[in-house]
Amino acid sequence: ALRRPMVAANWKMDGSQQLANELFDKFKQLKDDSVEVVLCPPSIYLDSVQKLHEANREALSDCLVRLGGQNLSHHEFGAYTGEISGKMLKEFGCSYVIIGHSERRRMYGETSDIVADKFAMAQKVGLTPILCVGESLPAREANRTFEVIAGELDAVIKKHGTLAFDNAVIAYEPLWAIGTGKSATPEQAQEVHAYIRRRLSEVSPYIGENIRILYGGSVKASNAADLFAQPDVDGGLVGGASLNASEFTTLCRIA
Ligand code: G3H
Repeated sequence: ALRRPMVAANWKMDGSQQLANELFDKFKQLKDDSVEVVLCPPSIYLDSVQKLHEANREALSDCLVRLGGQNLSHHEFGAYTGEISGKMLKEFGCSYVIIGHSERRRMYGETSDIVADKFAMAQKVGLTPILCVGESLPAREANRTFEVIAGELDAVIKKHGTLAFDNAVIAYEPLWAIGTGKSATPEQAQEVHAYIRRRLSEVSPYIGENIRILYGGSVKASNAADLFAQPDVDGGLVGGASLNASEFTTLCRIA
């Protein structure tokens, strides 16, 4: 395939050391490097997850497991109590970082402007940003889905230029599907993913064709096959179902 599918686990403020142990036990049976698996635990676990990964390197030689952060500061370093820098994520083995998750945008006041700064900071330190975009239910009902998505993409494009997406992953997460048990239908996801790809293709056909666009929002073992089978869906960003090691591993197999 042109784009290697990715399944990313966003533990959010959940999970434990034990979950990490269980996940790595299951990954040993995966034996499949056609999918890229990304673990994004709370940052306090990155050190131990990285060590676990290292300790299992041989058993996992035929799969692709990477680490990611859930957030980073848009500042490089300095007096920002409680924040974590991109460089620190790098130092603890991260390849990716989730940027602009709707929970951060809505509950922690991250504006599109800050999200754009974080996106650039991630790239500056050598992390690949996983940029989350998605519309609310009222926006969808008002037929404003594309407008909202375009606005969130444009915030990055306007500030950092069109080629910023050369090294990035996008996650389409409709807000009404996150943690609700009610995922978008495969058709609804495909429609928005195709729109995102078209829009980036206008900027650069190469980027449009190569960028991975993940779907997020109540992905589980029972709906993943239909979602991941859509031509413009390159895998998933998984919250709740990533907290169960066997279900998450099943999702990695499906992708
Ligand atoms: O980052 C993950 C998404 O917000 C989806 O969460 O799978 O619990 O619906 P969920």
